[in-house]
Amino acid sequence: MSTATTIDLIAEAQVTEERFLRQIFVRDQMAEWSKHPLIMARADGVHYWDVQGRRYLDALSGIYVASVGHNNRRVIEAIRRQLDVLHFSPPMHGTNPVAVQLANLLAELTPGDLSTVKFQCGGSEVTEAAIKLARQYHRLTGSPGKYKIISRYQSWHGSTLASLSASGLKSRKTVNEPMAPGFLHVFPPTCYRCPFGKTYPDCGVTCATIVEQVIAMEDPATVAAVMVEPIGHTGGVIDPPDEYLPILREICDRQNILLIFDEIITGVGRTGRMFAAETFGVVPDVLCTAKGLSGGYAPLSAMICRRPIADAFWGPIEENPGFVEGHTFEGNPISCAAGIAVLREILERDLLANARLQGERLRAGFEGLAAKYGVIGDIRGKGLFQAVEFVEDRATRQPFADGFGVKVGRRALDHGLLCRFDPNWIAFGPPLISTAEQIDEMVAILDQSLGEVLDECAATGAP
Ligand SMILES: Cc1ncc(COP(=O)(O)O)c(C=O)c1O
Repeated sequence: MSTATTIDLIAEAQVTEERFLRQIFVRDQMAEWSKHPLIMARADGVHYWDVQGRRYLDALSGIYVASVGHNNRRVIEAIRRQLDVLHFSPPMHGTNPVAVQLANLLAELTPGDLSTVKFQCGGSEVTEAAIKLARQYHRLTGSPGKYKIISRYQSWHGSTLASLSASGLKSRKTVNEPMAPGFLHVFPPTCYRCPFGKTYPDCGVTCATIVEQVIAMEDPATVAAVMVEPIGHTGGVIDPPDEYLPILREICDRQNILLIFDEIITGVGRTGRMFAAETFGVVPDVLCTAKGLSGGYAPLSAMICRRPIADAFWGPIEENPGFVEGHTFEGNPISCAAGIAVLREILERDLLANARLQGERLRAGFEGLAAKYGVIGDIRGKGLFQAVEFVEDRATRQPFADGFGVKVGRRALDHGLLCRFDPNWIAFGPPLISTAEQIDEMVAILDQSLGEVLDECAATGAP
């Protein structure tokens, strides 16, 4: 089939046919996915419609991306205007006004002296850039032996090789091994299932303090950075105790190690403040953010570092090559115009306050479900980033053996609710524009789906 015929002949209604789906890789297991392919055709506000015209309530912002909702006119108009003026500037020769404006806006919105920004297209690119920045910073400041990166099991920092090496998810790593050298992992602050067998608050926050022992064993002269998501996602929305991030901050300060926050999800309002760094009252040396920054209207991510770190890259050319890192689409003017419009929308509509308010409503909704059904063992998260963990037995915290969370999540999808589901947990991350009624409807669909799956389990004798 010629290119022209392919474009002309595949009608939207036909794109679910397996012969056409065979021509594209998707993130899911493809053979399985193609049995019931979900292909979104359009979206508005907090709703998607698939190619068959079915409507879905978006309790996930796509994947924590659509911060200001779908079909947001302000962002679309900003992009249109920018397209008429400048759609691409030469990255090897400089930048463009919108990138500088967005960098300065982010410098104002991030806490402390986080101030110098590198723009990229996606989360993996900026966590990777942060790793390179940490290593190059230590070279430039007289500690060239510092190269190791400490991160956490169950974490996700991206799919490029260094960001994947920093990640701690065996399900996504093993097939790609061997990983890059120089990456170490520590246990995350999973209080509900403490890896040290302790109970908060009598635990002494071992999950944080042990990081200093790991550094001592490795030799502090070899460790460049500690990289964590303030609230870990892939382990089931791992919300640390209040002391956890401040302790990491102190350790990094003592050992001349950079603290990197991966706020790819938690940034741009998701936890009810512009950045989770504010939610937890800790300023990292480097903050990476993406997803909600452009609201999904164009690919955009940002790595923002503290002034003293940036200053190390500002020396005379004979001594200092600058930050040796770059991609073709960095600081793209269309993406940056989208980013500015998204931030304006969040600030002018006070969507941070809405995220806090609706986050409380979501929490109350999840608590209601926990009271109604005996299978919710824990509720975690902050603002509009929250999850429930399913257990077969609340007293023993025994997980289900058979992917209960996936069954519930799939049933919710059948009922028109998009959420993140895993064998043991379900997470919601709805757009920051969500109303109380929409949050209630999301919880109501989860309620219905959970009830139906439990009834079926009871009928079949499944656990
Ligand atoms: C916490 C976190 N970091 C990094 C990434 C990688 O971002 P991207 O998929 O845009 O490369 C993700 C993606 O889901 C993420 O959730």
